[in-house]
Amino acid sequence: MARVLTLDNVNVEGKTVIVRVDINSPMAPATNTFLDDTRIKAIIPTLNRLSKAKVIILAHQSRPGKYDFTSTLGHSRELGRLLGRQIKWVDDIYGPKAMDAIEQLQDGQILMLNNVRMDEQEMSVCGDFSTLSKTKMVQALSGIADIFVNDAFACAHRSTASITGFTHEIPCVAGELMGHEIRMIDSALDNPQRPCLAILGGIKVDDSVTVADNMLRQGIADDVWVTGGVANMMVELSGVEIGDLNHNFLVNELGDNYHSTVETAKSLLADFPDKIHLPVDLAANIEDNRVDLLIDDLPVEAPLIDLGIQSTIAVSTAIKNAGTIILNGPAGVFELPDFSLGTIEILNACAETDGYAVMGGGHTATLVMKYDLASKMGHVSTGGGASLDYIAGRTLPGIASLEASAKQFAVEITKPVDPQ
Ligand code: 3PG
Repeated sequence: MARVLTLDNVNVEGKTVIVRVDINSPMAPATNTFLDDTRIKAIIPTLNRLSKAKVIILAHQSRPGKYDFTSTLGHSRELGRLLGRQIKWVDDIYGPKAMDAIEQLQDGQILMLNNVRMDEQEMSVCGDFSTLSKTKMVQALSGIADIFVNDAFACAHRSTASITGFTHEIPCVAGELMGHEIRMIDSALDNPQRPCLAILGGIKVDDSVTVADNMLRQGIADDVWVTGGVANMMVELSGVEIGDLNHNFLVNELGDNYHSTVETAKSLLADFPDKIHLPVDLAANIEDNRVDLLIDDLPVEAPLIDLGIQSTIAVSTAIKNAGTIILNGPAGVFELPDFSLGTIEILNACAETDGYAVMGGGHTATLVMKYDLASKMGHVSTGGGASLDYIAGRTLPGIASLEASAKQFAVEITKPVDPQ
């Protein structure tokens, strides 16, 4: 593992400890109830290690403007239920209400702050660790905390104040989940069995295209199969009209990142025509009916929201013959039963293959749990973009921050540093 400090290296008893977690969870659009609590369960080992500390949890849910951008009150209740302990919650992040609540914390108590993405600077301030350390949140919270624990592996690819801003302010150490994720993915990549397939879907098309670029150019993946929103974009860029509705959906979803994503995707298609596998058919939602259409039969003025049956069979066969499979994101709108076929068949193929399958992405993890497939997978990561970036060999700011903090603070802490 990277040279970072862990909870083994610090004495937390009686200390005030900030824990950044990623419990960003899928929520039902109509009711805002949790569809899955995998990420909430995953932070319990870290909280158990901190049972004698005063714990302040920093977390986010979704992004401003999205339907599921909510407060973290529901997360605190769900965590309390799972942990069997009361979790305090405050509708504030670093203002007077938060500071009061922190002052009242006793050893063994846990306080969750509100959604950190409700802080304007969390969303707008970019830059290096010291720029982020000057944000109001980091200044306020590092003044009252002794240690920062980063357990937000799923967010380690973001460099924001709540992830990397504490680097040089207080000792920053990896939580249990962060350590587990790094060890599991490292062990899959140490000697990957070939062929290594990346299956990239979901709606974060910009992240997936960047990762496809890295994985192919660095020779990590032998082949990339595209599904979900990534497939729609690649099909369109291959010269097929997908219909205005589908085109506009991509433009709106990607916003400012649309043009740069298209440029990267175009050069990938030009440079790796034999390694990027596009669907031969897609399923359209025509008046609430699933209609499988060959790519040659496009465009269609209806949402294309699943892989077609032929493409699903092709990717499932490739998975069964692969040595390593890296999967991220659903193949379609799996919430609609008629359009879950591609996603579920691909997951079944990952469970049945003899290859080592690494599953990434919040929705993917949710489905793996729902269909009870976790024990048949190599590793189910809580990370989506983070696990893909890590696999692609990119430096994750969250991990780089832990390394930098370890260099600065190792001599000041009470326990010896593990040389691993
Ligand atoms: C995720 O769900 O991948 C993480 O919580 C990061 O979310 P983001 O892509 O909105 O930064």
